[in-house]
Amino acid sequence: MNTADASSLVDQFHTLYYSRNKQTWGNTFWLGHQVLKCPLDLWTYQEILHDVQPELIIETGTYRGGSALFLASMSDLLRRGEVVTIDSARQKGRPRHRRITYLTGSSTSAKILRQVRRRAKGKAAVLVILDSGHSKDHVLAELNAYAPFVTPGSYLVVEDTNLNGHPVLSRHGPGPAEAVAEFLERNDAFVRDESREKFLLTFNPGGFLKKRETAVRSAAAGSVRGRLRRYLRIGQWPAGGPSSA
Ligand SMILES: C[S@@+](CC[C@H](N)C(=O)[O-])C[C@H]1O[C@@H](n2cnc3c(N)ncnc32)[C@H](O)[C@@H]1O
Repeated sequence: MNTADASSLVDQFHTLYYSRNKQTWGNTFWLGHQVLKCPLDLWTYQEILHDVQPELIIETGTYRGGSALFLASMSDLLRRGEVVTIDSARQKGRPRHRRITYLTGSSTSAKILRQVRRRAKGKAAVLVILDSGHSKDHVLAELNAYAPFVTPGSYLVVEDTNLNGHPVLSRHGPGPAEAVAEFLERNDAFVRDESREKFLLTFNPGGFLKKRETAVRSAAAGSVRGRLRRYLRIGQWPAGGPSSA
């Protein structure tokens, strides 16, 4: 099969999978808690978490907490990391887990960002997942607000870049994909990591943004002490070495 045919087939399956949401992504559970994700993307998260070994995972958009529980379960297996998840709405029945902290408020409000900044301070490796409102303006505001928390070599994952015809919901209007395009035009600290799209079907095409190893560390997101702690735990210097903090 040539590349064009393969791409068309993948898009057709993507569209079918997405449109059957009651059977597929709206009907997906992690340990009994609904998670609005494609299982292939969850597996990709598992691989990213293993590679990055984050001390802190920041998620915007909690919904029912299934994705936060998935991330916390992976952190249990890795024996490190905590999850801070933010949503403007409260929901009953969210999972309780010692690694999960729920914050309530708009992801871009000064109050929430203050709390996130406090928790990110001194963390050796920080991963961010943006999965709250899906308008271009909101995602762009989140990208600008949360990018500084991401540590070099780690990821800023923008969920649902498939919207607005990429390839689903062509009438959605500018959304995550358009926000990512604009963000990357002005920001050379991040590159799209297409190797994270290897399973062909992903809800986040072009949305796995890796922070360059050479990117300048933000004061909000790490410290020499944090990197030293990580070195002692995993036996190798995180990307950039000890002196780039
Ligand atoms: C797609 S759902 C999150 C799905 C969840 N991460 C999962 O994988 O199961 C989006 C959530 O974002 C929340 N949300 C929308 N706008 C928001 C904002 N400005 N700040 C914080 N949360 C917001 C909604 O209340 C909703 O629960």
